[in-house]
Amino acid sequence: MYGLDGKVAIVTGAGRHGGLGKAMAMRLAEEGCSVVVADLGRTEGELFPTHGVGTTDEMEQVAEEIRSAGARVSTIPCDVRSEAQVEALIAGAVSEFGRLDVIVNNAGIGYLMQLVTEMEEEKWDAVLDVNLKGMFLCTKHATRQMIEQGDGGRVINIASQAAKSGFPYASAYTASKHGVMGFTRSIAIELGSHNITCNAICPNHVTTGLGSWQNAFFSDALGLTEEEYLEAMRSRIPLGRPGLTDDIAKACAFLASDQAGYITGEALNVSGGEEMH
Ligand SMILES: NC(=O)c1ccc[n+]([C@@H]2O[C@H](COP(=O)([O-])OP(=O)(O)OC[C@H]3O[C@@H](n4cnc5c(N)ncnc54)[C@H](O)[C@@H]3O)[C@@H](O)[C@H]2O)c1
Repeated sequence: MYGLDGKVAIVTGAGRHGGLGKAMAMRLAEEGCSVVVADLGRTEGELFPTHGVGTTDEMEQVAEEIRSAGARVSTIPCDVRSEAQVEALIAGAVSEFGRLDVIVNNAGIGYLMQLVTEMEEEKWDAVLDVNLKGMFLCTKHATRQMIEQGDGGRVINIASQAAKSGFPYASAYTASKHGVMGFTRSIAIELGSHNITCNAICPNHVTTGLGSWQNAFFSDALGLTEEEYLEAMRSRIPLGRPGLTDDIAKACAFLASDQAGYITGEALNVSGGEEMH
């Protein structure tokens, strides 16, 4: 039904167990896509710590899991902040699988949280560089390839509830994710004539690696236990639970599919009703 057999997809930031990227890569593979698992591949000091990034070992494990479900998968380490590495990522996907149909811009950092009065410039820059500039670079080079192929394509940007609302300690993160929406809408207009759609998904909280770091951080900041913090979250979500990686993966597969062919420039909330605008 989804018409994704034989398509080729890249998912950035997909090299972590329990992450949204892995779930989306797995789901796209189940729908018939060949998939490139892209991720940073190495830690880098305080800005890219062990709890925040997918290493090449973890990328390979993720790829092997998807491969054992019967899909064609490759891994390509790529720092989305580097134009040269992004160009190599797109070229690598095309050389491995012959074409590119879907780019899922999922790489993101949400663990550099500080009040604005304390926010260090290098942390602000790191968040904006990964979450926004990385999305720009991947979209630029992926859509050049799609335009050359001449038969359309899909850009799927992983934004956040933080693309719609503000959150304390998260001015850089919310600024980057609001920026994702402006970017998404402009690309939808620029590339519509090439039959390339560009949409964003806005998840609320999902307890991924990043999500569990945030649970610990925000419960501590609010003087709550993690269980009290999660209970307060559950009680304000109409569907009574935080998101699951599979909720986001299903939305991603839909937006990648023929079924979503006339949808572009949208910000799709996947939030159990917590976010409604
Ligand atoms: N978990 C949530 O509650 C939630 C909610 C809304 C939006 N999001 C967004 O979803 C996306 C995935 O987050 P997640 O929760 O799965 O966390 P995650 O930490 O599992 O995934 C983020 C990935 O981005 C990668 N990354 C970081 N810097 C990179 C760089 N310079 N180049 C390439 N890759 C890099 C990391 O290695 C990691 O694999 C992020 O964009 C995040 O902002 C998450």
